[in-house]
Amino acid sequence: MAEAQRLLSREMDIDRPCAARIYDAFLGGSHNFGVERRFAERLELALPGVTGVFRDNRAFLRRAVEYLLARGVRQFLDLGSGIPTIGHVHEVARRRTGRFRVLYVDNEPLTVAHSKPLLAAEPRAEIIRADLREPGSVLNAPETAELLDLAQPVGVLMSAVLHFLDDGDDPHGLVRTYQRAVPPGSALVISHVTGGEQPAPMHLLANFYADTADPLVDRSPEWIDECFGGFDRLGPGTCCVSDWRPDPGAPAHPHYRILHGGVARKPARHE
Ligand SMILES: C[S@@+](CC[C@H](N)C(=O)[O-])C[C@H]1O[C@@H](n2cnc3c(N)ncnc32)[C@H](O)[C@@H]1O
Repeated sequence: MAEAQRLLSREMDIDRPCAARIYDAFLGGSHNFGVERRFAERLELALPGVTGVFRDNRAFLRRAVEYLLARGVRQFLDLGSGIPTIGHVHEVARRRTGRFRVLYVDNEPLTVAHSKPLLAAEPRAEIIRADLREPGSVLNAPETAELLDLAQPVGVLMSAVLHFLDDGDDPHGLVRTYQRAVPPGSALVISHVTGGEQPAPMHLLANFYADTADPLVDRSPEWIDECFGGFDRLGPGTCCVSDWRPDPGAPAHPHYRILHGGVARKPARHE
């Protein structure tokens, strides 16, 4: 019932900008409305260069997925996927292998409606409408059983989504549930907004998002690192996403350092 209310409360919310379409607008996509384009323009005016934060996140996600593909991970569960365009997970995977599976999950109804036709011709990827705060609705969905083999390693992606959860949702507890649901060799990818290094831009960003359908919560790199729990950190560990195995020639000092994240793998021995 609580879950039905959550989903219904999103149903009518098309007059306010929403996170998925704001992100699409910043990435230069075409799956957004005037309300999100105006939001993106106003935010870029208030925080010149902030577009780079959204692009840095998408680039981090790409590098993380490439890294996992190179280590044999072939299945991905993308929680809070947004609209899978502009170099999203199945496009990254398709460049490397024909043997992959991606299940996208989002709780925003129009995001899912926009995404379904985009994935219609790709049998190896699917999107479902579910709330990651209800792990049972994700893990027990028929599409999950059809697409993913939870006995084999899975890349669980929580990219730019946990900051939309309140502390009352128990984000750490939710992450643990997904960690337990996948076998050793699986990996967890997380990115999250952080204001510690640059509180002023973070404050402004949070104020902008406060008026959207998806207010966000700023947390610390330590909080993000705690999400990984007993998983082995890969690459440089939890850091500013631009510093996580940057592409050769990438700018060493991004304008804003308000997004941290990391990648970690489930070891053979884990609870
Ligand atoms: C900023 S977008 C991130 C897109 C993608 N993960 C990426 O990093 O490129 C965040 C997405 O999370 C979704 N979202 C927010 N809260 C969610 C929840 N509780 N369950 C599922 N999706 C959620 C939003 O609808 C939005 O599409």
